[in-house]
Amino acid sequence: MKIRIPKITVPKLKEISVQAPEIKLPEVKSVKLETPGVVTPEIKKPTIAPVHIKKPAIAPISFKKPVIVKPKVKLTHYNFGIEIVNENMKEKKLTIAIDGFSSCGKSTVAKELARKLGYVYVDTGAMYRAVTLYCMRNGLIADDGTVDEAALRRDIEKIGISFIYDPQTSKNTTLLNGEVVEDEIRRIEVSNKVSYVSRIDFVRAQMVKLQQDMGRQGGIVMDGRDIGTVVFPNADLKIFMTASPEVRAQRRFDELTAKGEKVTFDEILENVNQRDYIDQHREVSPLRQADDARVVDNSQMTRDEQFELILKMVDEAKEANA
Ligand code: DC
Repeated sequence: MKIRIPKITVPKLKEISVQAPEIKLPEVKSVKLETPGVVTPEIKKPTIAPVHIKKPAIAPISFKKPVIVKPKVKLTHYNFGIEIVNENMKEKKLTIAIDGFSSCGKSTVAKELARKLGYVYVDTGAMYRAVTLYCMRNGLIADDGTVDEAALRRDIEKIGISFIYDPQTSKNTTLLNGEVVEDEIRRIEVSNKVSYVSRIDFVRAQMVKLQQDMGRQGGIVMDGRDIGTVVFPNADLKIFMTASPEVRAQRRFDELTAKGEKVTFDEILENVNQRDYIDQHREVSPLRQADDARVVDNSQMTRDEQFELILKMVDEAKEANA
């Protein structure tokens, strides 16, 4: 491969420090010049963003055979506008697991994070809610929460759960067998029953399988209760979110009353406590913090403070993965 680059003093490239642990030069796809002229090899803040140089260049550069460079620092970006496109150096897309108690703002953070990083967001709670709604509609769950497990087991493969995902807003719309049920699954009647369904082993096995399929490629932010422990035990970043039950109940109360639902604070607090108990004490995949999870208690944090903290964690995870 030969590439011509005008007005580039190649030896100055020596002054560039590179951070990637290993760069296979033959995999460089293109070298183009964005700002033709004097090369000032002053390095900007190192970044792992792939670099593009737009205009053809004169200085011949040839890579005759695979050359492995093992530089000290990662580099792809420097201030004279040269970028090297190297598929190898493309930033690894992380798998981010966000677990924690109900109503502590996991999905808000996860959505915001996915939008910021250009990742996909998956709300696994919505999946258990959709199965619960299916049970309610088909008479598979009694008022006291008893589930007709034999019937549900027969039906489980037929319960189609899918999402319409909007990457601009990270909004996930949940579909149950093709029908939009996004609002219905958030209703208090479903919230009150979902723990009885989500504790059933074959329901969890089926959901975990679907979740692992969705996250196989990385570049995903998934929130739930068992993401860092069961679904993606090797996630690049695990966050465990929590807040006091009262703070969480207040948030859910505000959310539901804003939607016009007639609920009382005490009713919501009771639901929060009850779900915490069931989530933590169920036999299959109880809610617990993964040993390597980072804890975020947002009882006293503003949304901005929390997001800033989480972005810092993401940066650290990226560093660790670079
Ligand atoms: O996050 P949420 O409140 O929408 O979740 C609804 C219920 O689903 C919650 O009571 C716990 C359960 N759940 C679970 O058991 N495992 C998950 N990965 C996600 C949710």
